[in-house]
Amino acid sequence: MNVLVTGAAGFIGSHLVDRLLAEGHSVIGVDNLSTGQSGNLAHLADEPRFILHQADVTHPLELPTGTPPPQAICHLASPASPVDFGRLAVPIMRVNAEATRLLLEMADRHSARFFFSSTSEVYGDARVHPQPEDYVGHVNPVGPRAVYDESKRYAEALITAYRTHCGVQTRIVRIFNTYGPRMRPDDGRVIPSFVCAALAGEPLVIHGDGSRTRSFCYVSDTVEGIHRLLMSDQPGPINIGNPDEVDMLTVAREIIELTESTSKLVHVPAPVDDPQRRCPDISRARERLGWQPTVSRREGLTRTVQYFRNLNLRQGSRS
Ligand SMILES: NC(=O)c1ccc[n+]([C@@H]2O[C@H](COP(=O)([O-])OP(=O)(O)OC[C@H]3O[C@@H](n4cnc5c(N)ncnc54)[C@H](O)[C@@H]3O)[C@@H](O)[C@H]2O)c1
Repeated sequence: MNVLVTGAAGFIGSHLVDRLLAEGHSVIGVDNLSTGQSGNLAHLADEPRFILHQADVTHPLELPTGTPPPQAICHLASPASPVDFGRLAVPIMRVNAEATRLLLEMADRHSARFFFSSTSEVYGDARVHPQPEDYVGHVNPVGPRAVYDESKRYAEALITAYRTHCGVQTRIVRIFNTYGPRMRPDDGRVIPSFVCAALAGEPLVIHGDGSRTRSFCYVSDTVEGIHRLLMSDQPGPINIGNPDEVDMLTVAREIIELTESTSKLVHVPAPVDDPQRRCPDISRARERLGWQPTVSRREGLTRTVQYFRNLNLRQGSRS
């Protein structure tokens, strides 16, 4: 297939590009590099089945002349870190609302399959635990996280309308916290923040008392789930995440141990509307996609620590 991937230079997008190429597909990556890095795709510079097109997908896409029409469109473009919810508030709304509509129209024009990366944040500060797909969520529509949560919810509704009323073949994945190589050190999400602080011997900053929980999925597992859903006949939404729930104090201590760091833990107040607990119910993914995570947190953290160590070495040797 010819697959168009938006957000291709981002963390998950770049791993998905690698996976699609490994399966024999041709990929057109589109990215405006607002939170992504072209370095995530540098290893593909000589790959004839891949092109990176720098563009903002909130505007109608004009692909380079001679590009074959896409048979599948994977819309992953969207800033995803809470540190960007203020800085990039309107761009986040636009990439999940306006760009999703433009790309659905494109999918309709080319009879292409449309894949969307939604998020566990559609469940908000959930009152049901773990979260199954039929839980409708508990989201504050005017809170500081609303630009992300509500624009993803709007996108899901829009996609469902195009599937139901226009016959577009659509797939929706709800991704839970994913981590691994190619995250930005200053991304603000918990794993890169803890790992980079621990490697630098700086304090690990914990929001609240450390009892908040998350369920971390290693990126190769997430991409396997995305790929299975894309190739399936399931419209979703389907949760993809690791049900191995852990509190923040535990994960901070694990990272300190893995990095052999002398860093201390410091506590700051938790941000407004930050979910107390987060854990996917993955029964649907198991039943319909035959998918479940395979990389343990220890293994995934070890690989991630190694990635950031190497990054520090490369940056150190350049300066
Ligand atoms: N990483 C996670 O834990 C997680 C969890 C849930 C959902 N998701 C979703 O997965 C997708 C990828 O997330 P990620 O963690 O890789 O984030 P990321 O920030 O690393 O990647 C997003 C990419 O989209 C690009 N982008 C943003 N706006 C764009 C625009 N208007 N036009 C073109 N490109 C644009 C960015 O430059 C970046 O390369 C997002 O849709 C996100 O909401 C991620």
